[in-house]
Amino acid sequence: MTAFEFRTAPHIIVKDGAAAEPGPTLDALGRPERVFIVTDAGVRAAGLLNAHVAGLEAARVKVEVYDKVVADPPEAMVLEAGEAAKAFDADAVIGFGGGSPMDTSKIVALLAGSDQPLSDMYGVNNAKGPRLPLALFPTTSGTGSEVTPIAIVTTGETTKMGVVAPTLYADVAVLDPELTVGLPSHVTAATGVDAMVHALEAYSTKLKKNQISDALALRALTLLHGAVEKACTDGSDRKARADMALGAMLAGQAFANAPCAGVHALAYPLGGIFHVPHGLSNALVLPHVLKFNTPDAAHLYAELGEHLLPGLSGSAEAKANAFIAELERICIAVKLERRLTQLGVNHNDLPRMAEDAMLQTRLLVNNPREITQDDALAIYQAAL
Ligand SMILES: NC(=O)c1ccc[n+]([C@@H]2O[C@H](COP(=O)([O-])OP(=O)(O)OC[C@H]3O[C@@H](n4cnc5c(N)ncnc54)[C@H](O)[C@@H]3O)[C@@H](O)[C@H]2O)c1
Ligand SMILES: [Fe+2]
Repeated sequence: MTAFEFRTAPHIIVKDGAAAEPGPTLDALGRPERVFIVTDAGVRAAGLLNAHVAGLEAARVKVEVYDKVVADPPEAMVLEAGEAAKAFDADAVIGFGGGSPMDTSKIVALLAGSDQPLSDMYGVNNAKGPRLPLALFPTTSGTGSEVTPIAIVTTGETTKMGVVAPTLYADVAVLDPELTVGLPSHVTAATGVDAMVHALEAYSTKLKKNQISDALALRALTLLHGAVEKACTDGSDRKARADMALGAMLAGQAFANAPCAGVHALAYPLGGIFHVPHGLSNALVLPHVLKFNTPDAAHLYAELGEHLLPGLSGSAEAKANAFIAELERICIAVKLERRLTQLGVNHNDLPRMAEDAMLQTRLLVNNPREITQDDALAIYQAAL
């Protein structure tokens, strides 16, 4: 058999209402006394933190809330949050929100727990720690950041860089699907497609695909395939919300070990340059990257097609095409924009985007088919 390693967060709590009962989280964090919560203004305004903070204060924990996280966390903001955590003398960090607050909180835990400068942390296995104890509460069902060792930061004006290291696995991930009930339909759509892309890229990744990541990716796709459209139509559908939260987490466990590839690599310039939300960026390039990959990945996409659409017949290529068409159908059904031009991208922007995509070597090495800069340009042209 092929040897492999698999890692994930050591402690996962899945419970409706878990955010209002922080006891188990505090136990998992070693009973801290001064907790620094990292979130954003939208999550705070939605009132999602209220019961959590009240629960912490009832447990006599001192709390400071940093709510200035913005989407696609810029480096300066991450550094500011790190300084605020140090000034508060935090002894634990809680990331509470979507991928942006969770990713920020991971780096805050590192910055407040050791002296390593952020500039030395970028890349794979460069962040050394130690870090402060860390709990993550996702409020979108997308990034899977609660169970990944990854934090994505926007450096300079436009480039997105990853800090990837085992020390970024949180001490505890808390899935409380109730937190996602008020997530607006367009955000639900984007984050749901992001999670589906995590699962399919993990399943078709070139280097580290393994039996555990495959099982997680397949289960994630089953849950997400059944739930994303329902949650977009009726946000209060509790089963759809719970299935999405679980599906996104399982996909996160999968791609944390069997990493993402071309779709994410080509999506990042859209987030970095045009501030297109992460999930929507993925959705825009998704069918075009998969069509490009099909010559080398048809058998894997065909397996995913058979998994989601039982009874599919024909050649591997026909089944792969049916899988890609099903993903496209979902993107349309949940009302995501389908053309780059709808987001203000025009023809002249594409060469720079293709150049930027080539910087995502961490992701590109995993793609089932090699993507050159010319290929990236052709894919963007197809998506225009
Ligand atoms: N760490 C990883 O493994 C990983 C993986 C994929 C993406 N990412 C990163 O994650 C970020 C994107 O995260 P995201 O897609 O979760 O979006 P996000 O965190 O940027 O949040 C999007 C918006 O949704 C709002 N929101 C969040 N939860 C809400 C709720 N329950 N109710 C109402 N509004 C709510 C927020 O206020 C925000 O305005 C990007 O920076 C991306 O690069 C990280
Ligand atoms: Fe993603």
